[in-house]
Amino acid sequence: MRVEALDHETDFDGWRAAARRLLTEGVRPEDVRWQVGDTGGDLFDGIGRAVPAAKPRTITVPKAFLADAQRAICHRDPGRFDLLYRLLWRLQRNKGLLANAVDDDVHRLHALTKAIRRDVHKMHAFVRFRSVAGEAEETFVAWFEPEHRITEIGTPFFMRRFATMRWSILTPDRCAHWDKEVLRFTEGAQRSDAPSGDELEDLWRGYFRSIFNPARLKVKAMTSEMPKKYWKNLPEAELIAPLIAEARQMEARMVEAAPTRAKRLAQYDYAEPDLPPADALAALKRKAAACELCDHACHATQTVFGEGPLTARLMVVGEQPGDREDIAGRPFVGPAGALFDEALADADLSRDDLYITNAVKHFRFTPKGKKRLHQPPRVGHIDHCRWWLKAERALVKPRLTLAMGATAIRSLHGTPLKVAAARAEGFECFDGGKAFASLHPAAVLRQTTAADRDRAYRSLVDDLRRAKAEVMEAA
Ligand code: URA
Repeated sequence: MRVEALDHETDFDGWRAAARRLLTEGVRPEDVRWQVGDTGGDLFDGIGRAVPAAKPRTITVPKAFLADAQRAICHRDPGRFDLLYRLLWRLQRNKGLLANAVDDDVHRLHALTKAIRRDVHKMHAFVRFRSVAGEAEETFVAWFEPEHRITEIGTPFFMRRFATMRWSILTPDRCAHWDKEVLRFTEGAQRSDAPSGDELEDLWRGYFRSIFNPARLKVKAMTSEMPKKYWKNLPEAELIAPLIAEARQMEARMVEAAPTRAKRLAQYDYAEPDLPPADALAALKRKAAACELCDHACHATQTVFGEGPLTARLMVVGEQPGDREDIAGRPFVGPAGALFDEALADADLSRDDLYITNAVKHFRFTPKGKKRLHQPPRVGHIDHCRWWLKAERALVKPRLTLAMGATAIRSLHGTPLKVAAARAEGFECFDGGKAFASLHPAAVLRQTTAADRDRAYRSLVDDLRRAKAEVMEAA
């Protein structure tokens, strides 16, 4: 067995030189034992001594491997030197080895380097310097307890960031000292070697308090980003518990202070008493284009407003724009719209005879690959969007309204009604207007047999005919 002694736990240069020697001599990984310091060995161990060599080889080491090896050596895993030499040995025979992520050794290397990256990241975030009193030149000292032995690879960051300050970072494993010219490393230190408390800590606490947003508080995410083991060395940590406790109350106060729905609606005030109705409708449409009353408005491409002559006696209300309507910015221009146009023609009506709109003015969907799958609006969306429907109705003043489907009924009536009953008996709209219900054209398209589809289609045409007859009668 060949024993290789390294100077210290993170002696990357020592490991590298030894590994090169071993490879050149053809020493197999299972014939090497790595140790840190000279801890003595078996009588038969050959410390630093060549085992009869196989053929010397040309050594190739991918750069990426060296960078990973430098990180992995900082891990506390006692098998790291063996792992790295085994990988190096195998790399001489299989150059593509590192690309094989399911290989046990490669997988282990990735796990070690990932843990080190994370630990270094935490060091950069959580080192807190304290000013040391009594030094001739102001010096800053920080105490930090990393999970792994990362002082050498984690501290050059501070050298760049605090180049003009003298500082030391003390850890139990190694310490780093920057004198504004050279970064030096010494043996590990103890917590008591570092000072505690100075006015810098008040600054940290003030900063932390000011960036703490109670409405964004996610205790789980926060404790995973700022693990509790680091808290004892963070001056701001003492604020965390009281701020979390206060957060709920603070959030409630913020919600109270936020604009109420009534206030938000006020900014959409459509009363344009001096405008002729056609201009008022155009102004309303412009305002709706910037509507942000509900949460899904921002996902849709645009607001799809109603259209048709102001003189229309019949208003037809659908559910919400679909994929095609969202892109075109006009109601009922997709497959349901094509069927609706056909039904209108069969009922001897045309779009010019009616004002057509939707209960909800934005397309609600979930993305699936390249597709956008229709999602029915929630009651909250229907309620928010009713404001626009009210405004449209106040300008159009229809004599009769046809509510196509359950969402339109819910919007116009204010509470749900069974489609069959609302179709047979009609109902009164929120503004006192007269309405009755029909099937939605999309419901016709959803029928699975030709016979059912035909039946549903005829029922829609009948309802359009009935609507036409009623508005003619009322004229
Ligand atoms: N379905 C609706 O309810 N409205 C449209 O505009 C399109 C499809």
